[in-house]
Amino acid sequence: MFGKALKIPIPSKRVRTASLVGLTIGGLMAAWVTFAGPASAAVLNLNVRTDCRATGNGTTNDTAAINSCISRAHDNADGGIVRFPSGTYRSANSIHMMSNVTLQLDSGATIRGAGGTGYDAPESNPFDDFQDFGHSHFHDAMIWGENLTNIGFVGPGVIDGGGNLITGNPDRGEADKIISIKRCRNLRIGDGLTLRRGGHFAALINGCTTVRSDRLTIDTASDRDGWNVISTTDVIISNANIAANDDALAFKSDYALGAKLPNGGVEVRNSRLSAGCCNALMFGSETCGDFTGYDFHDITITGANKSGLGLVSMDGAVISDVHYRNITISGVSSPIMQKVGTRRRCGNSPGIGRIHDITYDNITITGKSSPQFTATLWGESGSNRINNVRFTGVRITVPGGSGAMGTGVPSNDPNNYNPNSIGKRPSYGWYIHNANNITFEGGSVGFQSSDARPAVIANAGSNIRFNNFGFQRGSGSPFDFGFQNVNGFCVSNSGSPRVNNSGSTQSCGTTTPPGRTEAETASSSTTGTTVDSNHAGFSGTGFINTPNVVDAFVEWTGVSATAGTRSLSIRFANGSTAARPMTLVVNGGTPMTVNFPTTANWDTWSTVSVNVPLNATGNTIRLTATTAAGGPNLDFFEIS
Ligand code: GCU
Ligand code: CA
Repeated sequence: MFGKALKIPIPSKRVRTASLVGLTIGGLMAAWVTFAGPASAAVLNLNVRTDCRATGNGTTNDTAAINSCISRAHDNADGGIVRFPSGTYRSANSIHMMSNVTLQLDSGATIRGAGGTGYDAPESNPFDDFQDFGHSHFHDAMIWGENLTNIGFVGPGVIDGGGNLITGNPDRGEADKIISIKRCRNLRIGDGLTLRRGGHFAALINGCTTVRSDRLTIDTASDRDGWNVISTTDVIISNANIAANDDALAFKSDYALGAKLPNGGVEVRNSRLSAGCCNALMFGSETCGDFTGYDFHDITITGANKSGLGLVSMDGAVISDVHYRNITISGVSSPIMQKVGTRRRCGNSPGIGRIHDITYDNITITGKSSPQFTATLWGESGSNRINNVRFTGVRITVPGGSGAMGTGVPSNDPNNYNPNSIGKRPSYGWYIHNANNITFEGGSVGFQSSDARPAVIANAGSNIRFNNFGFQRGSGSPFDFGFQNVNGFCVSNSGSPRVNNSGSTQSCGTTTPPGRTEAETASSSTTGTTVDSNHAGFSGTGFINTPNVVDAFVEWTGVSATAGTRSLSIRFANGSTAARPMTLVVNGGTPMTVNFPTTANWDTWSTVSVNVPLNATGNTIRLTATTAAGGPNLDFFEIS
């Protein structure tokens, strides 16, 4: 049974350290590695039928056999793989997952849940007042484990609740989730695996780190949530296909483990999500711990009766550095929503949360029936305003069809996170309340049926800008853009908008001189890059601050120039004590090094110039840091 080269998910205690080092250094590399030779020889391969007497006949309860295989694999010094050949393994009791064990389901293999009350009772939890029953208890599951390292659920088979799992609060002996993991490190889930009919959760993980999931399908549209990733760090999810009823893929941080825990370092890519009643790709509502560092890209969302891209901070969380790009959304009621609420339902007496440094790039949204849930940014007052959100190329088509209505601030229930916690928005395209430093570059809003509301209303905020922004005008609408108590707004290069100014100040600043590209218009950059404005003397709306890591990069695309060899001058500040060289690549050509020497401090800006070959249009310019200090702060470049 022992192959010379096994593709397995780090089941070996002996190689665990080495593989973890690889993960850290590789950052985005896959979690599984091919172990060849002696290291894999000690991994125990068990066949659940021939080694542990499971029947796979679909009627016998195979749980005891499965559990005995898991514990044998676990007891082996180098862990093991429990393989399920084709067949249906009825499991009427809870399967107890253990460290260093991978469950590998062959094609045609199904572990199926059963009715009755044979599952483990929910464990007591002194913190169960702070979140729903389902989030508070982990043992009432088809498969559960706690404090696990190096575990996997893989292969082209299926784990199916069988329509027996509970979507509400289970009675003793009933299960309400398929996979339920409390505290883990190194979880691999996917490789063709399908979770079907999951009850409240197809998968619930809480307090985990280093999670790798490729090709996981969740088919639970008739039940409730797909995958809840709670208080978890270092996650890569690729090629997921999740159809859920409630939340399809949700990042939450509750108080079930009795502490405020960190969240972040997450990439989700090349995935399809849909939700029936509720949210497709969601932050919250449970938001006790902070969230930072999320990269969502190349995602298709095909339905959600609440939010497509929802991001709420209800319980004191600071949510920052979240980036969405290349996302297509259809059939959702509330396309994009951010909200700061004041529920504060955690055991650490939290304050009110904040949301800042969020970007949306190249997002196309076609809405569905309800005209009510206009894309919304809703902050709280003072320092709890939403801050620093940038939309680049975000195109929204709403159903429209609303009659005229007052343009006052809608009602709000601050303890509720749902799109309908805020009353019908008085604008059809964007409604913005209590927000600072909000930029729309390119993009548009439009409707399928004429709508008598303005395209955009921003109420209470500062520095809210629309440039190159397309909008439609419905018959009977009073104006196109409304700014109410906004300190510094600008609508530029956007046709001839009718702007209604109520207690606001317009401030379009100086127009960008010809040949200049503001650094903050970059189309992509290393995760963790921010547009900052905390050092004086920059031009435009801010400057680019890369993280202090080698290979931190910033890329600008679509840059126009006069074709030929041109001078490229880059304005920067480097208040550190050492030069920060970067590699410059223009249109994928020969890399050259540009040195960025120190400047007196971070408020002192300097320029360096290099000659580069440029085309008339569509130039791509990329700067990549060559040292662990990352790049300098970048203000703009000019071509002459
Ligand atoms: C400081 C400074 C930042 C800069 C950073 C760095 O934190 O305020 O603007 O980017 O140092 O060293 O890169
Ligand atoms: Ca920096």
